[in-house]
Amino acid sequence: MGEHPLFIQAPAKINLTLDVLGKRADGYHDLASVMVSIALSDTLALWPAPDGTFTLECDQPELQGEENLALRAARLIAAHAGSLRGVRIELRKVIPTRGGLGGGSSDGAAVLVALNRWWGLGLDVPTLRDLAAQLGSDVPFFITGGTALVEGRGERVTPLPDMSPLWLVIVKPEVAIPTPAIFRALTTAGWTDGAATRALVAHIRAGTLPPLTDTTLVNALEPVALRAEPRVAQVRAKLLAAGASCVRMSGSGPTLYIPCTSLAQATTMQDAAQDLGAQAWVTHPISAPGGAPAPSRA
Ligand code: C5P
Repeated sequence: MGEHPLFIQAPAKINLTLDVLGKRADGYHDLASVMVSIALSDTLALWPAPDGTFTLECDQPELQGEENLALRAARLIAAHAGSLRGVRIELRKVIPTRGGLGGGSSDGAAVLVALNRWWGLGLDVPTLRDLAAQLGSDVPFFITGGTALVEGRGERVTPLPDMSPLWLVIVKPEVAIPTPAIFRALTTAGWTDGAATRALVAHIRAGTLPPLTDTTLVNALEPVALRAEPRVAQVRAKLLAAGASCVRMSGSGPTLYIPCTSLAQATTMQDAAQDLGAQAWVTHPISAPGGAPAPSRA
């Protein structure tokens, strides 16, 4: 490593589908989800720390603690590789925290991938995913990113061809919903059979994008979150009234997303969301940095 920092991007994700299939013996839930990386990213600068220390500076100081996933990722991969090197991390947050967009998970995965390369550790993708799974359920997806089928607790990741491009408006109501509380409030009646995820995966593999509607995009956690936080339900209802044809929640929320067919429609939806006091971004899905498998010729 030289004296210069390595700058890396850590993109957010949304869940196009999120089926909760059941509860596992370990207390986690079995999931089936199509996740897609989006062009809304945190930026990290990694600086060499030859004295072997690990430190983090973040533009949101409340995120600088030892539990930060970027810092934990650095310590984890160094310990795994028996490396004596340390790293000083600067983290500029753009992805809203605790929103269902996987920001912290993406920061952690980005550090694993970057240090593996920077330190020449030669760890393969399955090993990086195993390390990622130790940090959190959403982290393994971000090792490769792009569009993927995510199963199990989140550790089984099958890369998919890129979904056809589209505009997305991301809407973050000013509400915090803790993920464990949402999973706890989910009853067996809220479990789904995985059909929505299977159908979307088949479309993406064939290179055909189905109409993105409240029927083709499902999130088993959404009804729970909307009941827990009626303000999110209100924002969703008002976006539908403002002309959105589909408004879905990402992960355990409260962030909502709206697929749009034109930039003009996306801008209208962003304005509507901001008028409701929510933060809103216009963005789009992005490819896996390493490239995605091609659509199958069915
Ligand atoms: O793995 P992670 O720490 O990100 O998960 C946060 C919480 O979300 C867990 O404590 C658990 O309550 C819930 N969860 C779950 N099933 C999953 C993933 C997360 O029940 N597959």
